[in-house]
Amino acid sequence: MEVYQDLVFPLLSHIDAETTHDRIIRLLELTQNASWGQRLLRQVAGNLPYRPVQLFGITFPNEIGVAAGFDKDVRVAFGLSQLGFGHIEVGTLTPKPQAGNRRPRIFRLQTDKALINRMGFPNCGVFVAGKRLKQISTVERKYVIGVSLGKQKETPIEAAANDYCQVMEEVYLAADYLAINVSSPNTPGLRTLQSEKYLEQLLLQLSEKNKELALRHAQVARPMLIKMAPDLSWSEVDTILAAATEKDINGIIATNTSLNRKGLSHANKAEKGGLSGTPLFERSLEMISYITGQLSGNLPVIGVGGVSSANDVTEMLAAGASLVQIYTSLIYQGPRLAGRILRAL
Ligand code: FNR
Repeated sequence: MEVYQDLVFPLLSHIDAETTHDRIIRLLELTQNASWGQRLLRQVAGNLPYRPVQLFGITFPNEIGVAAGFDKDVRVAFGLSQLGFGHIEVGTLTPKPQAGNRRPRIFRLQTDKALINRMGFPNCGVFVAGKRLKQISTVERKYVIGVSLGKQKETPIEAAANDYCQVMEEVYLAADYLAINVSSPNTPGLRTLQSEKYLEQLLLQLSEKNKELALRHAQVARPMLIKMAPDLSWSEVDTILAAATEKDINGIIATNTSLNRKGLSHANKAEKGGLSGTPLFERSLEMISYITGQLSGNLPVIGVGGVSSANDVTEMLAAGASLVQIYTSLIYQGPRLAGRILRAL
């Protein structure tokens, strides 16, 4: 019997999905900060093979990370690393704190092993998150921190670059890499930043800011990645790849959540928002293959979408991904997931 899947999850599934998430974050926060808790987390994770991956000049301790949105406010990165995740993408962060959309805004589709969310970037704002990041970075870390950059809901698309730059500035020293989130479906208009009209200008401003901050802090520029939506046509993907290559972007994260509802059985499929989990896997895989094929593997890809087993990880790596991230299957399978996958790879 699997304690989490057979006992804990069925009990938790009677409670609203976001309330459950908030409690789990609080519990993990308490656990990671106590020495007894750290021992417990290591015990839960089990033996964790070290499988280093060199990418963007960074050593990732293994191929598996936690996708953006799980640790929005930088509270449990250390705890997640203790459970085996080699990198944690925190955020998405915006310059000011914001509340996000009205609750309920996360829905379980158990029969599809999926979630639909319409969070709308609730987060504590980059000032508070930046302080937490600085604190984490005062001690030597064995895991990699990516920071997902976003824009405030009310900032017009034309002025979005200023928001992304503001967040970048605040997190710069503590971030190992930066993820430009232009693909969440729950902030009105955000996905239009993926179009030719806006993307080139956005990437230009972000690249310049990156160079300026690197110079100011006498450090190497931070690797910058674009996170893509899975609902793009191939020609839209080509546009992004062309802009990314031209503006010295270091990688692509594929993919964010989907607006597609094909093949779902659960009644919650009618909820508005982005779909994640198992139904996303094939599309994410297809996008990774396409991107690595188009660029002959010259632009590294982080694969994300519906990964729930060592087999899925292996398939994504075979399709050309350098690293893989997980969110939804962590909700369904619980804290032993990363260790289980790493031992099976
Ligand atoms: C997300 N995701 C997400 N992505 C992002 O770039 N910024 C964010 O703030 C969030 N927030 C968020 C909240 C919730 C509740 C979910 C379920 C997802 C998307 C996430 O990072 C990932 O790209 C997708 O969920 C697909 O991966 P999984 O969940 O199928 O492993």
